[in-house]
Amino acid sequence: MTRVAVATSFGGPEVVEIVDRALPKPAAGQVLVEVRAIGVNPIDYKLYSGAFGTDESSLPLPLGSEAAGVVVAVGNAAEGAGGPISVGDEVIVSGAKGAYAEKILVPADAVLPKPASLDWNVAAGLLVVAGTAYDTLETVAASSGDTVLVHGGAGGVGSIVVQLAKARGATVIATARAENNDALRKYGAVPIEYGEGLLDRVRAVAPDGIDAAIDTVGTDEAVDVSLELLTDKARLVTIAAFERAANDGFPSVGGGNPQSAERRKKAALSLVRQAGEGDFEVVVAKTFPLADTATAHAELKRDHPRGKFVLIP
Ligand SMILES: NC(=O)c1ccc[n+]([C@@H]2O[C@H](COP(=O)([O-])OP(=O)(O)OC[C@H]3O[C@@H](n4cnc5c(N)ncnc54)[C@H](OP(=O)(O)O)[C@@H]3O)[C@@H](O)[C@H]2O)c1
Repeated sequence: MTRVAVATSFGGPEVVEIVDRALPKPAAGQVLVEVRAIGVNPIDYKLYSGAFGTDESSLPLPLGSEAAGVVVAVGNAAEGAGGPISVGDEVIVSGAKGAYAEKILVPADAVLPKPASLDWNVAAGLLVVAGTAYDTLETVAASSGDTVLVHGGAGGVGSIVVQLAKARGATVIATARAENNDALRKYGAVPIEYGEGLLDRVRAVAPDGIDAAIDTVGTDEAVDVSLELLTDKARLVTIAAFERAANDGFPSVGGGNPQSAERRKKAALSLVRQAGEGDFEVVVAKTFPLADTATAHAELKRDHPRGKFVLIP
């Protein structure tokens, strides 16, 4: 048996319940992982909010897609992204269904080796944000010499975009609320506040213009300012304003896009390695017991904290 968090209907965090589930033995190509930490992402509560439909047949809805833990059982022919998997391996689970659990049965290709240098909480919260960040930078072809505007540069995804863009040699201008300016400066970005007057503030710090823009927020302000400043809208990408992207004809990533999924999967091992070597950091803002999933989701929706929330089973 294992305890898992599920959404029992569509709505706010109050629909989340902790229930017991039977766990079958791993079949061929499957791995059983005892979870040490679970990454929390906004998509986790959006999926039961009704924003992506209210298909009753999907209930109770398993929650979460990423975790870190120890392999406790392995089916035949279980080969992960990093090679064969053995009992006792410390691993990262990525792209799983129902990662909010004490134990999780996953396909072997959802498992990557966890570098010893990464603690459980960071490892658990790493790949959604890093994979998304990488995907955006590839989409706008950010490279050395570019000036890149990042909307939401202090957020989970945005803070990795900033760090990876700097590592590519770009000049980075990033938006955040005033309290987050120091965090952005630490990563080498020029911080500016979002809100009224954003266009003028970007022009003031980038008199020669910008070459690319990455929107991790999804507001009309972020999209409008970017479109106004860019000469080529193919160099704007959003991870949240999907309707604007479709209507205005610029790229979005994620949201079920198979090209994004493929690109992120290919990059995962390298991103884990880079994080393990300290090339970029993932900040963990707060941990919660798995039993407090509903509280974690309510806080994440309300406070947009600087850093990741992590659940501990
Ligand atoms: N498409 C994909 O593949 C994909 C993947 C991951 C996430 N997402 C989506 O991307 C969004 C961000 O995810 P996340 O994990 O990075 O969330 P997060 O850690 O909560 O970060 C959100 C960021 O948005 C900023 N923000 C909030 N309100 C703002 C406003 N009015 N104007 C400008 N910035 C504002 C916050 O800045 P301050 O804290 O400085 O106020 C914060 O940096 C979510 O909607 C999530 O569902 C999409």
